[in-house]
Amino acid sequence: MDNRAAALVIFGASGDLTARKLVPSLYRLAIKKRLPDGLRIVGVARSSLSDESFRAKMAEAVREFAKKDWSEEDWKTFAGRLFYVAGDAAKPGGLDALREWLANNDSGSQLYYLAVAPDLYAPIVTNLGATGLNREEGGWRRVIIEKPFGTDLATARQLNDVVRAHFREDQVFRIDHYLGKDTVQNILVLRFANILFEPVWNSNFIEHVQITVAEKVTMEGRGAYYDKAGVLRDMFQNHLLQLLALVAMEGPARFAADPLRNEKVKVLDAIAVPTVEEARRHLVCGQYAGYRKEKGVAADSRTPTFAAVQLRVDNWRWRGVPFYLRSGKGLAERRSEVIVQFHCPPHLMFPLPPGVEFQCNRLALCIQPDEGIHLRFQSKVPDQEGMVLRPADLEFHYRSAFRDLAIPEAYERLILDALHGDAALFMRSDEIERAWAITDPFVQASEQSDAPEEYAIGSEGPAGADAFLGRDGRAWLSLCHHG
Ligand code: BG6
Repeated sequence: MDNRAAALVIFGASGDLTARKLVPSLYRLAIKKRLPDGLRIVGVARSSLSDESFRAKMAEAVREFAKKDWSEEDWKTFAGRLFYVAGDAAKPGGLDALREWLANNDSGSQLYYLAVAPDLYAPIVTNLGATGLNREEGGWRRVIIEKPFGTDLATARQLNDVVRAHFREDQVFRIDHYLGKDTVQNILVLRFANILFEPVWNSNFIEHVQITVAEKVTMEGRGAYYDKAGVLRDMFQNHLLQLLALVAMEGPARFAADPLRNEKVKVLDAIAVPTVEEARRHLVCGQYAGYRKEKGVAADSRTPTFAAVQLRVDNWRWRGVPFYLRSGKGLAERRSEVIVQFHCPPHLMFPLPPGVEFQCNRLALCIQPDEGIHLRFQSKVPDQEGMVLRPADLEFHYRSAFRDLAIPEAYERLILDALHGDAALFMRSDEIERAWAITDPFVQASEQSDAPEEYAIGSEGPAGADAFLGRDGRAWLSLCHHG
């Protein structure tokens, strides 16, 4: 089957995601000439709009969110692909107009993108089934489902059941946009396209691992959603556990959806699901000062906007190696990095002056904003009396290594992969359920504990997070340059 007459149907065409990410990403893909020939993009939402007025709205969005790439001429060519069909996709009969449009426009294959509120995923999928729009007549049918996919294990299972009733697993593309980031995919390249790292990538050489996803932003108008979710559901269940899985997994034989996802699921399987009591002992929560005054947030909210968690991967490779994960909003800066802390050399022949702390090798995978890799090692300070050691960094930065190539928006890669039927960078149903199984006890522990510790906006998070690592004789580390 080819893509000539494929249609990408975006449910939630009047929403934020469509305006900020999806249409700007599609526009950039069009400029790069990567969109399949003849692909049509059909926006669906409740309000009645003509194709022309939908195009005008999207032009505004692209002008704002893809400013750098805006050109009247490129837009004109791209806009010819855009169409609009009104309908309440979650209501019986609400997809009739879409079905008619697709039939009249000779659409072969269809990719449905659910860019809608999460409570509409199940009704829309059900409706696609009821309207026969899931039937693979004249081409393929696929569905992209945004996050959050459920709010806990039970709801994720229910949603998977609904989806499964109408689509095969290989037709389903569950988004975790972190997997669309080049630097996240580069974790796999670093580990499995080089020989240097893999031999030391285990508990014999690695002392512990830290994963930080720090955000400077606060609610950005999403208070009502966030107050129900909190940082554990919003960031840990998906992005942080995905980063952990890529760092900890075994090398698949092929870069393809099933081999890759099998290995990720094995890592998640090796993380024992804690009891709520165990989770409480391995969790610290924080809330930024002023959070309770945010629009949509309860005045007495105990929702954490920061959390730090310790996990263990109970398998041969990782025996005894703690993984510390932390994420929060309202922090000093936007910075995502993975730090791999290696053991110290078993014996040091150089005498260290009293009070000098010896830093053992450390590798930092800088996910954003200063994308790159840093390796810290000891070096001899020149022209000193005796042997004076000091840590130095080998640094790789995308912006200097790939000068002419900007890091793309994660959605570009993901939309294109879904159009090509490649699910490697999407989450499988078992993977998402296992991630919820691990996250649920931490969520429960946070709900049953005292109110989260307050931290100042622009700080590094609550003091309790430092004490949390301090208890293990460790401290939070950062090697990547700050944004
Ligand atoms: C989303 C979360 O999944 O990821 C947001 O819902 C968060 O709360 C965002 O801000 C972070 O993504 P990025 O790509 O900016 O790191």
